[in-house]
Amino acid sequence: MLEKKHQVYRDQVRAFAQKYLEPKAVELDLEQRFPDEHIKPLTDDGYLSLLIPEKYGGKKVDTISYSIAVEELSRVCGSTGIIVAAHNSLGTGPIVNFGNEQQKKKYLPRAAKGELVAFGLSEPEAGSDAGGTKTIAKKNNGHWIVNGSKCWITSATKAFASVATARTNDDPTDKRITTFIFERAFTGYSVGKKENKLGLRGSDTAFLHFDDMRVPDENRLGDIGMGFKQMLITLDGGRISIGAMALGLAQGAFDVALKYSANRKQFGKPISDNQAIQHKLATMATEMEAARLLIYEAAQMKDAGIEFTERSAMCKLFASEVATRTCSTAMSILGAIGYYTGPYPVERMWRDVKLCEIGEGTSEIQRLVIARELLKKVKGC
Ligand code: CAA
Repeated sequence: MLEKKHQVYRDQVRAFAQKYLEPKAVELDLEQRFPDEHIKPLTDDGYLSLLIPEKYGGKKVDTISYSIAVEELSRVCGSTGIIVAAHNSLGTGPIVNFGNEQQKKKYLPRAAKGELVAFGLSEPEAGSDAGGTKTIAKKNNGHWIVNGSKCWITSATKAFASVATARTNDDPTDKRITTFIFERAFTGYSVGKKENKLGLRGSDTAFLHFDDMRVPDENRLGDIGMGFKQMLITLDGGRISIGAMALGLAQGAFDVALKYSANRKQFGKPISDNQAIQHKLATMATEMEAARLLIYEAAQMKDAGIEFTERSAMCKLFASEVATRTCSTAMSILGAIGYYTGPYPVERMWRDVKLCEIGEGTSEIQRLVIARELLKKVKGC
């Protein structure tokens, strides 16, 4: 059961999503168009500064509220959900957590005003093996010269800066990589072509390329060699928001299926009179509620300063797998019309939700993280 303040917040985000996101969700998907028109309302209502303290112009909320925001936005428009989640957890999060005062003052107010920040960790040969970064930064007279590429970058085409990792030593097996803030305005920074994706088609995804890019040392985020740990800590938090995004998409598809089943008549009665349909609805609702509780628990642990690596992996794993099942079952309940593009959002949500099993660590990686955390507790006992 949510506390009153969280219920109020949920209703507020829900109303926002219905007002601004719902009318555009189909169009953005069909046209593969980034929702530029959403950026101002998202900024004004604080959805692009959910982790940024007020001192830097943000409207920081607790992690349950952040999860609620991502869930409710994704329930209507997954593309907007991932834009918001990536900007907050992955873009601004590392600056809030690891930046010095000068960096916070320079970048966070811009981010809070709606200028997006991207996250560059993955590379063509460094996906699950995130420490295998090939992008290299070499020190040169107080500057770094950076060469390399980052792939699958959410909002790459729009972001004014990216928080990204690079190797700062010559040993390719050494995971002591370093994090930097790269500005799009830096000479040598370029953005690849927008990728064509199965889902989340309103969210732009592209490569980032760094070609002899000169980066001042003041743009190094934290100590040399701390990048891998910083990124894993960042992903621990980000995974809660991907769980919330998955849950929002599942809930959106479920809401449609529930209503449809009560109205669609076959053999002279609503299809929801059939136990086969009732059992599907009951399973979907129960699994979503369990996912929601795991997400809230991970969120509470994070805010309480309790170690939450295992919990965030569990909530991301469980919510994303529940959500792909839920969206698929919702489509089965709608039958042929559910497979069509347009009349109902279920096929869009079914396409959108698959990413939640892949981005910010695949289901296989989440299982690996969970198993490692479990075994840590008994090894050496
Ligand atoms: N927090 C802090 N430190 C951690 C940590 C955590 N959660 N997990 C591990 N570490 C530490 C370890 O203690 C270890 O420290 P020491 O060297 O001091 O002992 C160090 O980090 C290295 O850990 P491992 O040896 O365990 O590293 P590994 O390479 O064997 O495995 C992994 C780590 C779990 C597989 C990790 O690489 C991982 O999570 N990979 C998936 C990456 C991922 O999610 N990529 C998607 C990025 S999202 C994206 O790019 C898309 C987008 O824009 C939305």
